[in-house]
Amino acid sequence: MADNRPIGVFDSGIGGLTVSKAISDLLPNESIIYFGDTQHLPYGDKSIEAIRYYSLAICKFLLEQNCKMIVIACNSASSAAYEVLVDFFKSESIFINVVDPLVKTVVEKGYARVGVIATKATVKTQVYPSKLHTFDAQLIVNQKATPLLAPMIEKGFHSGEVSQTVIKAYLEDEDLADIDALLLACTHYPLIKSEIAAFFDHRVDIFDSTDSVARSVQAALEHKEMKADQEKGVYSFYLSDYTESFEETAALFYGQEIDLEEKNIW
Ligand code: DGL
Repeated sequence: MADNRPIGVFDSGIGGLTVSKAISDLLPNESIIYFGDTQHLPYGDKSIEAIRYYSLAICKFLLEQNCKMIVIACNSASSAAYEVLVDFFKSESIFINVVDPLVKTVVEKGYARVGVIATKATVKTQVYPSKLHTFDAQLIVNQKATPLLAPMIEKGFHSGEVSQTVIKAYLEDEDLADIDALLLACTHYPLIKSEIAAFFDHRVDIFDSTDSVARSVQAALEHKEMKADQEKGVYSFYLSDYTESFEETAALFYGQEIDLEEKNIW
């Protein structure tokens, strides 16, 4: 049976666009309602309780918009709130987080030593080492919190001197010196992926969750027989606090003017 209801996607800001775009590319007939909680950005510096509170309110809003599935397109929210959301909303929706698909992709490669860069909140939950170790107990996992990266990207510094300086300051860390692969465990970071790859002289494999999450969405919709059958999906965007850089980045990503509304859900 076809289901043309939208997929809800949320993040603290523009980072989740990297995920929603991957979903739109893979599944162009799916509609998306995106919520960026720019009022509370960065999530990575917030307490676990605050991230849970924001996530619950956003999911309630997305479900009121009749979303058939919710993609938590934020590592901080996926780490802090995924279980709480699944438990709270039970059968009301299907929840996809961004951690599990990335972990699965990386463990299949059989690396000996990986690095994880993420927000402070994601690092604090230990979700990556603990999930990676359930598949491979021997894997060496070195985590590093890189809290300036998401606000920097949100402000539009995706390339150039500022981003290169900040990236270098964070990644010149001994713990990241001998890694085989680096996990970009924040959905903002794909926007600076090429700069990160260049910092490592392309010697380290760099992974983000965008494509693996899109494939998980596809698999879940197929499994539940909930795929859309309309010709083209419709995209709408909500922000808790309007920012020009969000509108510009979203329009750039989607290659079209976007339907954007500021919405206070608190
Ligand atoms: N994009 C988010 C993440 O994946 C949040 C970044 C932030 O707001 O600190 O963690």
